[in-house]
Amino acid sequence: MGTIRKAVIAAAGLGTRMFPITKVIEKAMLPIGRRPTIDYIVRECAAAGVGEIAIVVRRGSTQIQRYYGDDTELRALLGRRGWAEKAHSLDELASVPSITFIEQDLEDRYGTAVPVLLARDFIGDDAFFFLSGDDLLVERHGRSTLAELGRDAGGGSGYALVGQPSSASSLDRYGRLETAETDGRTYLTDLVEKDAAETRPEGGKVLINISRYAFPGEFLPVLAAVGEHEESGEYRLTDGLVEIMRSTPIAVTVSLGSYFDLGNEQGLAEASRHVVVDNR
Ligand code: G1P
Repeated sequence: MGTIRKAVIAAAGLGTRMFPITKVIEKAMLPIGRRPTIDYIVRECAAAGVGEIAIVVRRGSTQIQRYYGDDTELRALLGRRGWAEKAHSLDELASVPSITFIEQDLEDRYGTAVPVLLARDFIGDDAFFFLSGDDLLVERHGRSTLAELGRDAGGGSGYALVGQPSSASSLDRYGRLETAETDGRTYLTDLVEKDAAETRPEGGKVLINISRYAFPGEFLPVLAAVGEHEESGEYRLTDGLVEIMRSTPIAVTVSLGSYFDLGNEQGLAEASRHVVVDNR
């Protein structure tokens, strides 16, 4: 199996935990320094060798398209003023992989499986990465957990996900990965969503799911068959993954990067401090 060239990024959320600012600034456009959060995810994909990205946005969303879109008027103005060199950071934007926008109607089915299913035509039969725009992974220069994830998937069944070492106290927000080692490789043995306090492992570090996945194209029909989750009413990608796990080994790539939850203001502020203030 070759390198994974396609990625789907889920970025349609309303950002209710970030109201009221997300009333006027789309969640994926909230800044970390000079760039919106979505741009960090796009660059993470580019660094892993991805050439085509589909961003699933909320219906009627315009800000991400504008960010990556043409800026001829602005450039013309800078040119007329003799400020052409100020356009340097705009030029960088043109070097990102090709981006397709897919609209998600939030009145329809909801949950992590939905953006992937909406990207069906984009994916075709190809292997792809799936990432959530809410989860930021910051790594040392030159390191790419996503590239490693692609290699782990390609060297195995085609299925892999990232496990992020984290403290057990954060488990009510995340999926917890249970794993086993075989021949020096780590495999998923269970994925426990939003662990209730009483079923959690005691203290110490656990591996959480930070929504970084590598899938073969064959995952789509499995995902399409996932039913509505009883309690949440959501169509959950992780239900499809657990289904696959029964018959197919799923590799776990352990992250060495720093993780930030961009869905809340503390996570966003911590990411800003890490990336901008500490300049890492
Ligand atoms: C999803 C996944 C969960 C994961 C989380 C953060 O949950 O189902 O396993 O830990 O994203 O990446 P959600 O945030 O959609 O509730």
